[in-house]
Amino acid sequence: MSNICVIGTGYVGLVTGVCFSDLGNTVYCLDINAKRIENLKEGIMPIYEPGLEEIVERNVEADRLFFTTDYQEALKDAEFAFIAVGTPSGVDGEADLSYVRDAAEKIAAVIDHPIIIVNKSTVPVGTGDWVSDIIRKKRGENSLEYYVVSNPEFLREGSAIHDFMQPDRVVLGAIHRQAAESVAALYQPLRAPVLITDLRTAEMIKYASNAFLATRISFINEIANICDELGADVREVADGMGLDKRIGRTFLDAGLGWGGSCFPKDVKALAHMAVLHGTHPQLLQAVMEINRNQRRRVVMKLRNLLGGSLVDKNIGILGLSFKPDTDDIRESPALELIHLLRNEGAHVKAYDPQAMENTAHEIPDLQLCKNPYEVAQDADGLILATKWNEFKQLDFKRIYSIMRTPVLIDGRNEWDSKSLRALGFTYFGIGQGNHVSAIE
Ligand SMILES: NC(=O)c1ccc[n+]([C@@H]2O[C@H](COP(=O)([O-])OP(=O)(O)OC[C@H]3O[C@@H](n4cnc5c(N)ncnc54)[C@H](O)[C@@H]3O)[C@@H](O)[C@H]2O)c1
Repeated sequence: MSNICVIGTGYVGLVTGVCFSDLGNTVYCLDINAKRIENLKEGIMPIYEPGLEEIVERNVEADRLFFTTDYQEALKDAEFAFIAVGTPSGVDGEADLSYVRDAAEKIAAVIDHPIIIVNKSTVPVGTGDWVSDIIRKKRGENSLEYYVVSNPEFLREGSAIHDFMQPDRVVLGAIHRQAAESVAALYQPLRAPVLITDLRTAEMIKYASNAFLATRISFINEIANICDELGADVREVADGMGLDKRIGRTFLDAGLGWGGSCFPKDVKALAHMAVLHGTHPQLLQAVMEINRNQRRRVVMKLRNLLGGSLVDKNIGILGLSFKPDTDDIRESPALELIHLLRNEGAHVKAYDPQAMENTAHEIPDLQLCKNPYEVAQDADGLILATKWNEFKQLDFKRIYSIMRTPVLIDGRNEWDSKSLRALGFTYFGIGQGNHVSAIE
């Protein structure tokens, strides 16, 4: 069993630390956010992630999982230091590496024994070498044995524990193969395929994977928009395509487009890297443009349905998180919709099972409701923005009776159009080939 330090207790760091300790390792989870650490010590989770709390509790009790803000304490016996801090978008779309730099400098300042530094944050190609340089410079002559390994993370929020424990693959990049093999040994109990590459290739695998998934979604959204105009149904088109083994069905659900803490910033950062090095990432640019337009298109449809203007219309939003089973609202399509609708003069109210607290910080004057029915009350339009289970089977008779104008925009193609139309609703899904005419 190994001694591990995980730096950053966000979605990736906390899940990584907790899962490694569940595999029997001794893990120190470290964060600069003192409140977060204080809460974790008291068993209060900083994020909503199904199953996380139980595993934390179990491993704290077993004396294998510790929380601290102190680098010295966290790295005292560590053989591995995982960096899992945020890498948000900078002003030009580049990845902001200031948190990674800070973590690397702080590691360099305290280590006094050989260590493997593992980059789990999503970082631009070349960052592994840069982290190595930071440590070498900081320690000067006083250098000791250390290695940098890239280990990009592929977990999905909402199923993060499962994804960590049963990964499709573990990617490790390193200059020294032996260092990568030592990290591979930590994952050995998971029995997942391990791919060992050089540092830069591992870093690129992460960006290319996210960009590819975002491309699939933008592709099917473009097809959906064409379906709408031509009277075809994109859901069946995706089924038909997906049966082809070369294509597969995943990431072919048309909707409001991709959001979240990863795809938007990672596609942007990859395009930025490409431009910086003299290539023209035309496909990536189109993928981003299609995504931006997807939300605007829905607002346009709603405006047309409501007689050409959204001024003083009451619009309800169901779902705020960027996807179900998380409280993460970073780059959530729902938030962009709210912004666009309010810009056009609409009054917006919303409900989400987990993301209300985060939303209240982000948009303090947004009217938040206790349940979907409060959202629907007197609404002129109701938009399904996030595919939470609790929105799947609503009492639509009741909703019909309390809305001012019974217009439903099914941004996730989740509801049954036939039965809703039979109840009297004007229903619009994404790419279902429904032509839209204004309500009298
Ligand atoms: N969230 C995901 O689903 C996901 C999936 C795969 C990869 N990633 C990547 O993993 C990285 C982390 O993402 P996240 O969503 O977990 O981020 P997050 O914003 O949820 O958490 C980052 C944490 O790092 C802490 N931190 C920042 N600087 C620090 C420092 N110098 N020392 C110690 N702690 C510090 C912050 O206080 C915060 O708690 C990013 O690069 C992201 O792109 C995220």
